[in-house]
Amino acid sequence: MDLQLKGKTALVTGSTKGIGRAIAESLAHEGATVIINGRNQTEVHKIATELAEKYAVKTAEAPFDLVDDAQRAQLFDSFPDIDILVNNMAIFADARFDELTLDDWRQYFEVNSLAGIALSKFYLPKLLKKNDNGRIIFIASEAAIMPSPEMPHYSMTKTMNLSLAKSLSHETTGTTVTVNTVMPGSTLTEGVEKLLESLFPDLTASAREAKFMAENRSTSTIQRLIRPEEIGNFVSFVASPLAAAFSGAALRMDGGLVPTIF
Ligand SMILES: NC(=O)c1ccc[n+]([C@@H]2O[C@H](COP(=O)([O-])OP(=O)(O)OC[C@H]3O[C@@H](n4cnc5c(N)ncnc54)[C@H](OP(=O)(O)O)[C@@H]3O)[C@@H](O)[C@H]2O)c1
Repeated sequence: MDLQLKGKTALVTGSTKGIGRAIAESLAHEGATVIINGRNQTEVHKIATELAEKYAVKTAEAPFDLVDDAQRAQLFDSFPDIDILVNNMAIFADARFDELTLDDWRQYFEVNSLAGIALSKFYLPKLLKKNDNGRIIFIASEAAIMPSPEMPHYSMTKTMNLSLAKSLSHETTGTTVTVNTVMPGSTLTEGVEKLLESLFPDLTASAREAKFMAENRSTSTIQRLIRPEEIGNFVSFVASPLAAAFSGAALRMDGGLVPTIF
């Protein structure tokens, strides 16, 4: 299937690691120009160079902290026009409600919600004006619809992503622009790999994964962690003009983890 992404420019926030990197790689594989973002300049340069060489495409470097107003302004100056915005960057850590301070809640709102709001506020009017299959895709989580007592702050920000994408989709009425959310389930990123190592230090990687799924993710019907490239390829499809009929949708790729139909 030709996803018709050649000639498109995509900004993937938080694309030096994990799911964001896999989304950037899939988009580059499809021939899109990808803007790599993260706070570490060396890492941004490394991934941008790797993908450009591997897929013979153009890449660009955006080494900016997107929570910082001034650095976000630098991003907008450097890249005023894009076709695809993937709001992927987020933070997460376990903490029970009684352990969380108001500053923790503020931080989660600023990183996981407000940065994506600010980027959408800048890019959506431009995408609407261009009216050429522009895409905004939020990366949420199964926690958006199955909030976790271990991560109430994270879960809340992810539910906000769904609400925002639906609201913004109304702004696109009558155009070829779409706004959607993708909800991955537990995915084998570097961070999750480290977590498994710390939980089960004496087991092999595959035994760790099996034990984690059986004990900690028992509702998953695939009983394995999702691979980042699976999410990457799905996001590329949603970014494609072929996926034009998804609008305001909350799209689950959670390996069956959420035990409800909707
Ligand atoms: N992993 C999972 O199992 C899972 C499951 C469901 C949903 N998700 C969602 O998928 C998305 C990606 O998760 P992940 O596990 O792949 O994350 P990750 O491995 O921790 O990577 C996060 C990326 O964001 C960048 N970043 C962090 N803060 C930033 C900031 N202020 N400005 C710019 N870049 C920033 C990081 O680079 P620097 O630190 O160098 O800046 C890195 O590139 C998130 O929205 C997450 O909620 C993940």
